[in-house]
Amino acid sequence: MNNEIIFDVLIIGSGAAGLGLALDLPPETKVAIVSKSQLEESSTYYAQGGIAAVLDETDSISSHIEDTVNSGAGLCDVDAVRYIVASGRQSIEKLIGYGVEFSREKSSETGKTTYHLTREGGHTHRRVIHVADATGREVESTFVQRVKKRQNTILLEHHNAVDLICTTNIDGTNGRCVGAYVLDIKDKTVRAFRARSVALATGGASKVYLYTSNPDSSTGDGIAMARRSGCRVANMEFTQFHPTCLYHPEAKSFLITEAIRGEGGHLLLADGTRFMKKFDERGELAPRDIVARAIDHEMKRTGNECVYLDISHKPIDFIMEHFPNVYKQCLKFGFDISERPIPVVPAAHYTCGGVITDLNGRTDLDGLYAIGEVAYTGLHGANRIASNSLLECLVLSAAAAKDIVMHLNEFPDPPQLPLWDKSLVRDSDEEVVISHNWEELRRFMWDFVGIVRTDKRLERAQHRIDLLLREIEDYYGNFNITSDLLELRNLALVADLIIRSARLRKESRGLHFTLDYPETVDTSSGPTILEAK
Ligand code: FAD
Ligand code: SIN
Repeated sequence: MNNEIIFDVLIIGSGAAGLGLALDLPPETKVAIVSKSQLEESSTYYAQGGIAAVLDETDSISSHIEDTVNSGAGLCDVDAVRYIVASGRQSIEKLIGYGVEFSREKSSETGKTTYHLTREGGHTHRRVIHVADATGREVESTFVQRVKKRQNTILLEHHNAVDLICTTNIDGTNGRCVGAYVLDIKDKTVRAFRARSVALATGGASKVYLYTSNPDSSTGDGIAMARRSGCRVANMEFTQFHPTCLYHPEAKSFLITEAIRGEGGHLLLADGTRFMKKFDERGELAPRDIVARAIDHEMKRTGNECVYLDISHKPIDFIMEHFPNVYKQCLKFGFDISERPIPVVPAAHYTCGGVITDLNGRTDLDGLYAIGEVAYTGLHGANRIASNSLLECLVLSAAAAKDIVMHLNEFPDPPQLPLWDKSLVRDSDEEVVISHNWEELRRFMWDFVGIVRTDKRLERAQHRIDLLLREIEDYYGNFNITSDLLELRNLALVADLIIRSARLRKESRGLHFTLDYPETVDTSSGPTILEAK
C-alpha cells in the first residue's frame, strides 16, 4: 500500500480541514488520509463556541467583514476575508445537509423555531451557529462517520507524517511535491507515500507553549514540513491566547467558551470587581487580544494566579441548555458554574500565521496544498476573531477540492520514491534528551515569547532555540525516529519561526505586544513574511 500505489490526494490530518477536503473529492479520486492519533483527535473535536456566518436577516456580509478586519488590527487581506465570509451560509448549509444538528430556539413572539445564534468577542451581531457548547465534537463526529463510508478513501490512524518528498529542480531547489514519508507509529516503520497532490491539514502549533487549550496533536508539523521543503510562511508572531481556560492543576487548560461572555458572563478580580471596562468600552466582549492582555495585566498587578468568570447570575436552566459540556467538565473539578465564579487564565489557543496559500489552498510548491489552521490565507490578520477558524477550514477545504479536481488530469504521475534510509541510525539510549527539551522549549516560549514581549526576552529565546535546534538536528541524525522526536523537531522549528517573526515586528499590533514598542505604527509594513531559505 505505499510506494506501489499512486494516490490522487494524500491528506495529512483528519480535523475539519482534512476531512472536509476528503468529503468534497469525487468518488473516483483515490485518497489516503493519514492521522497521527485516532481520526477524531484534533482541535476541531474540542471546538466549543461555534462557527461564524451571516445567517440572520438583521446581519450582513459587510458587517461580518468589518468585524473580522477590525479584529485583525490592520493586517487582514480583505479579499480573503470577503471570499471566506461570503461563503459562510453555503458552508453551514452543507453541514446541515451532512446531518449536523445545530442548536435551535423557539421565538416567544412568533412561536417559530430557528437556529440559535450566539455572540462572541469582536462580533457586533449574533452570528455564531453552534451545537450547544460542543460544536466541534458534532462536526468532527459527523465528518468521521461520513468519511468511513467512502470506498475511495483509505484511513490510516496512528500514522505520523515525517516530511514531504519533492522532485528537485536543475538549480537544486524543490520542484513538485510528490508524496511524504510517514511513520507507522504502531509498527515503527517509515513508508513513502506517492501522490499526485498532497494536502497539509495538520492544524496549529499551540503546543509550543507550556499552557494551551489545544490537544497534544497541535505541534506545528505541517508548518515545519512545508518550511523544510521551501515554502514561505507568514505572521508567525501572532499566536492567539484564549482569555479563559479553567485554572486547575489537573484541567489541562480546559477551555471555557467565549460564548459564556457572549451570553452575559462577567470577568472578575478576586475581590469581585469587574475590570474589563477599564481596558475597552466593549468590556468582556472586546476582541481576544485585548481581553487576554487585560487579564495578564491584572494578574501581574494583583499578584494573583487567575481571574474569575461568572455566569452564576443566569438561571440554571439557561446554563444547562447552552453550556452543558462546560458545566459538566467544571463540576468534575469541583466548580459549579451555576453557583459561583470559576478561576480562569489565558492559554495559547490559535496559530494565526502559517504556510502561505492562495484562496484555493495552493502553497509555493506545485502539488502541495495547505488548509485550515496550518495555513495563512490572510483571513485572520494580527488577531483572529472568534469562530472564524472553523469557517475557514470549511471554505478552504471546499475550494482546494475544486482546484485539485480541476487539475487532476494535468498532475503528472509521481516517480518511484527513494525508500527511507535508516542505515546510519540506531535506537536511542538517551530518551531523556527529548523529554527535557520538550519541557524547556515550551517553558521558555511561555516565559519569553508570551502575551507580553520585550526585545531582551526575544533575544534570550533566540539564543536558546538556536542551541536546541542544533542539538535536536544532531539527535535526529543519529537515532531512530519516534513521534516524540518528530514533534519536538517540528516544535523547535516553529518556535524559531515565531521568535524570528516577533523580532522583525518593531511595533505592537493585535496579538503581538512588546513593551519596547508599545504603539501601533500608523503605516503597517504588512504581514511578516519569512522567505524560503
Ligand atoms: P485540527 O482540527 O487540529 O486537525 C489536525 C489534524 O492533523 C489532527 O487530526 C492531527 O492529529 C493531524 N496531524 C497533525 N500533524 C500530523 C502529522 N505529522 N501526521 C499525521 N497527522 C497529523 N474555532 C472556531 O471557529 N470555533 C470554535 O468554537 C472553536 N473552539 C475551539 C476550542 C478549542 C478547545 C480549540 C483547541 C480550538 C477551537 N477553535 C475554534 C479553533 C479550531 O477548532 C481549529 O482552528 C480548527 O479546528 C483547526 O482545524 P484543522 O482541521 O485545521 O486542524
Ligand atoms: C470559544 O468557544 O471560545 C472558542 C471559539 C474560537 O476559538 O473561535
